[in-house]
Amino acid sequence: MGSQVWYFLAIFTLITTGESRQVSSETCHPNDLKGLTRFKAAIRLDDSGRLGKWIGHDCCKWEGISCSNTTGRVIQINLPGFFTSSDDSPVQTSMKGYLSNSITLLSSLEVIDLSGLAGLTGNIPPSIGFRLPKLKKLSLFGNKLEGRLPESIGKLSNLEVMYLHENSFSGSLPESLGNLKCLRFLDLHSNRYTGLIPDSIANLTHLKTLNFQNNLLSQHIPDNIGDLQALKELDLSNNSLIGRVPSSITKLKAISVIYLNNNKLEGEIPQPFSSEQMPALRFLRLHDNLLMGRIPDSLGYLTSLERVSLANNKLDGSIPTSLGNLRSLTELYVNGNQLSGQIPSSLGQLSQLLILNISNNMIQEPLPQEMASLINLQTLDLSFNRLNLSSIPDWLLKLPSLSQIRLASCRIQGELTEYLQSTSSSLQVMDFSDNNLTGNIPALIGSLTELYLLNLGGNSLVGEIPSTITNLVNLGVIDLHANKLEGSVHWVFEIQTRFGGGSLTYIDLSDNRFSTGIEQIGKGMQQEIQDLNLSHNFLNGKIPTSIGTLGSMQILDLSYNNIESELPPSLGNATSLERLKLQKNYLTGNIPNEFLKLRKLEELNLSNNMLIGEIPFGKPLIDFPKSSYLQNTGLCGKPLSPCRA
Ligand SMILES: *[C@@H]1O[C@H](CO)[C@@H](O)[C@H](O)[C@H]1NC(C)=O
Ligand SMILES: *[C@@H]1O[C@H](CO)[C@@H](O)[C@H](O)[C@H]1NC(C)=O
Ligand SMILES: *[C@@H]1O[C@H](CO)[C@@H](O)[C@H](O)[C@H]1NC(C)=O
Ligand SMILES: *[C@@H]1O[C@H](CO)[C@@H](O)[C@H](O)[C@H]1NC(C)=O
Ligand SMILES: *[C@@H]1O[C@H](CO)[C@@H](O)[C@H](O)[C@H]1NC(C)=O
Ligand SMILES: *[C@@H]1O[C@H](CO)[C@@H](O)[C@H](O)[C@H]1NC(C)=O
Ligand SMILES: *[C@@H]1O[C@H](CO)[C@@H](O)[C@H](O)[C@H]1NC(C)=O
Ligand SMILES: *[C@@H]1O[C@H](CO)[C@@H](O)[C@H](O)[C@H]1NC(C)=O
Ligand SMILES: *[C@@H]1O[C@H](CO)[C@@H](O)[C@H](O)[C@H]1NC(C)=O
Repeated sequence: MGSQVWYFLAIFTLITTGESRQVSSETCHPNDLKGLTRFKAAIRLDDSGRLGKWIGHDCCKWEGISCSNTTGRVIQINLPGFFTSSDDSPVQTSMKGYLSNSITLLSSLEVIDLSGLAGLTGNIPPSIGFRLPKLKKLSLFGNKLEGRLPESIGKLSNLEVMYLHENSFSGSLPESLGNLKCLRFLDLHSNRYTGLIPDSIANLTHLKTLNFQNNLLSQHIPDNIGDLQALKELDLSNNSLIGRVPSSITKLKAISVIYLNNNKLEGEIPQPFSSEQMPALRFLRLHDNLLMGRIPDSLGYLTSLERVSLANNKLDGSIPTSLGNLRSLTELYVNGNQLSGQIPSSLGQLSQLLILNISNNMIQEPLPQEMASLINLQTLDLSFNRLNLSSIPDWLLKLPSLSQIRLASCRIQGELTEYLQSTSSSLQVMDFSDNNLTGNIPALIGSLTELYLLNLGGNSLVGEIPSTITNLVNLGVIDLHANKLEGSVHWVFEIQTRFGGGSLTYIDLSDNRFSTGIEQIGKGMQQEIQDLNLSHNFLNGKIPTSIGTLGSMQILDLSYNNIESELPPSLGNATSLERLKLQKNYLTGNIPNEFLKLRKLEELNLSNNMLIGEIPFGKPLIDFPKSSYLQNTGLCGKPLSPCRA
């Protein structure tokens, strides 16, 4: 009863005093009330329960709504999906429903924050620019919104923040974007915008962040991008941009981050003229493009650089000596290019360097001894160059912070024992594959207890594996293929990976002279094995029932051995199997019906064994070619000829 009286009174006040009243009234402006009521009606579900509390007519008191204390009009809708609750713990909530056009009735709006709600669908209202001229912040990221960015957006001359990232927006970007003179943050990443980046973008002289990564933008980067004198972060990565990197980019005075990686950019890397250009640049990613030419000497001017990736381009020439000036550098990736010459000794000055990847180039020896001063270096990859190292320099193995070293295909000779003596016990990754290491794997290997990856494949190692190898409780990947190792493989199934310290998923012991130990498969605590290759050895013995416990196994290759065994029905329990190769053994008996459970199997080879009987009828077994089953003692049935009754 009473509230009805107040309601009439309020309407009356509104009619008589209009918008300019000094109020805290009992009803908000009718357009605001109508707009919000319709907004609420289009939301089907609100996990946070905030909209459920939107009752009565004083929408200024509703949660998430703020009104101007002078005009009484709604100026903010603040309903983000991530908010801090009263007890200070962050809450995440979702809202499902349609973003109604009716929000444009709230003509005094300055802030719209409906971000991170996950379930908001619909478009940005096409009339937004005409209806909401006071808008300063438009934040709709993390929803399921779609459609174009309306042309009228350019009318929002007060807009400072536009966050539309992580939605399904599409279409081309309107030229009118360039009219948003006050814009400071523009983030459209992870949508499906296509076409070109409008040249007008260069008008946004207050812009600090420009993030268009993960879209489908093609065409050139605007030549005048260098006009963005306030820009700190430029991220155009993971699009399909073509053409050159505009040379004007070097004029970006405030720039700190440039990510142009994963595009189709070509031509040379722009050259800064002096140390006054891009004085604050810290992060530069140009990797995975089609850039060519040399790495410019003048990169050495950019002494603020901390992380640089030029990987996977077509860069040639040598690594410039000037890079030694980049004393703040922590990460340098130049892998996957056509760089030649030697590593300049100046790189030894990069005392902050943590990661250096030079792999997959045409670099030659010798390695400069100055690199011994890289006391912080944790990761070094020199694999697949034209290095003929003959031996691994002692100083290299003694780098005090080294945890990952990859020297694949560096023509290293000599006994593994010799090198292990210098190796730090904190090593996590050791890749010495495709060299000519000789001798045994020594017991000392067991002291590398932090090792996650051990790759000694493609060497000339001989002898049995020392029992100390089971100390490698952090091992996830072991590759010893193509050596002359012998004895048993049981140890690999006895490595008790440390609880919580990862687990062994990849095992390749193929192409050696191992003969025993397959009875241990599946007997250890290694249910995480995904890839097990023991092919091309002299393994004999029986395939144990316990093999069926390897429920994560995707690849099993025991081919080309001397295994005299029946096929255990339990193998049908390894339902993750995609490739099963058992050809060229002495397998006997039938193919168990349980193999019909291997529904993920894409490749099977049981040929060249002594199997008999009918191939179990059904998918996937009948779909493999005949050659999967040929050269057995007596297999029949689809895809081979029918069995005789
Ligand atoms: C109106 O609100 C602004 C901030 O939004 C505040 O600074 C100002 O003091 C308020 N004025 C009145 C009259 O409450
Ligand atoms: C905005 O950018 C366009 C396209 O580059 C240009 O033609 C126009 O003159 C610019 N407008 C202003 C006001 O700078
Ligand atoms: C690049 O974009 C594609 C398509 O939008 C997406 O599937 C992929 O995950 C993105 N890659 C990265 C590295 O973000
Ligand atoms: C170095 O780059 C290559 C690709 O060229 C990559 O395979 C390798 O994992 C990288 N090494 C490190 C340690 O990141
Ligand atoms: C590699 O270096 C060794 C020793 O310095 C030398 O004998 C050998 O000829 C070199 N091999 C090549 C291919 O350059
Ligand atoms: C590997 O080194 C051994 C001993 O130095 C040598 O006999 C052999 O020819 C080398 N093999 C290759 C492939 O270089
Ligand atoms: C297993 O290793 C052999 C020899 O190294 C190789 O030829 C074969 O392709 C590998 N099997 C699988 C399934 O990758
Ligand atoms: C397959 O696994 C199930 C459930 O663990 C078990 O009961 C069954 O005996 C196994 N089958 C074979 C053939 O080992
Ligand atoms: C199976 O292995 C045999 C012998 O290596 C080979 O000839 C045949 O092509 C293989 N078949 C399939 C389907 O892989």
